[in-house]
Amino acid sequence: MLKDSRLLFKLWLKNPRSIGAVTVSSPELAAAMARQVPKPCHGFVVELGGGTGAVTRALLASGVAPEQLVVVERDPTLHRYLSERFPGVRVLLGDAVHLPTLLRRHQIEPVAAIVSSLPLLSLKRSVQLRIGAQAFAVLAPGAPFIQFTYGLFSPLPRQRLGIAGEVEERVLQNLPPASVWVFSRPVGHVPALRKPLHKPLRNRFGLRPRGKFDQAA
Ligand SMILES: C[S@@+](CC[C@H](N)C(=O)[O-])C[C@H]1O[C@@H](n2cnc3c(N)ncnc32)[C@H](O)[C@@H]1O
Repeated sequence: MLKDSRLLFKLWLKNPRSIGAVTVSSPELAAAMARQVPKPCHGFVVELGGGTGAVTRALLASGVAPEQLVVVERDPTLHRYLSERFPGVRVLLGDAVHLPTLLRRHQIEPVAAIVSSLPLLSLKRSVQLRIGAQAFAVLAPGAPFIQFTYGLFSPLPRQRLGIAGEVEERVLQNLPPASVWVFSRPVGHVPALRKPLHKPLRNRFGLRPRGKFDQAA
């Protein structure tokens, strides 16, 4: 655990926004995340932002089979670390922003649950929205998106993504204390964003071209 903390801290010093946490997730927080995965679970469990593997370990300990688990990690050092640490688990080097493409390339479907340690609160709103939209594009209606946060409010904009979500557990034995949120897309709901994910382009008169950019990505 000390080795993991040192590695995460070193990487955080280089890129605080992308790593998002100075310390590794505690075993209590990791177990609280793993508890939210449906049992039995029919499909793949995709972990976003595996970091040093605290949540990966808890997911395996909770009964998720190694061949059922897929970890997506963007940092090459952490990707290598996770691959060596969990040889039976598929660890993909990639960005959660491109989740559907990444999973399609590796023929990973259906996805029964997403478990995310991504530092959503330190990301721009547009990136949060994009990650949320991509995640719900691969999840079946009703399937959970499980996310921890150190913040007081929802780490995903529920209304804009057309999803429901609430705090399922609060974990005080973590530095800092965290909440575990579980989001899902109601059955029968077609995802639609009310505003575009990108800033609309403007022409040389400062006016938006009509129609073209009004659709959600
Ligand atoms: C808070 S740390 C994970 C902590 C982890 N639970 C642990 O205890 O080691 C967040 C992780 O998300 C990764 N990450 C951040 N943005 C990402 C993205 N867009 N796609 C994939 N991974 C990302 C970071 O590289 C980092 O490993």
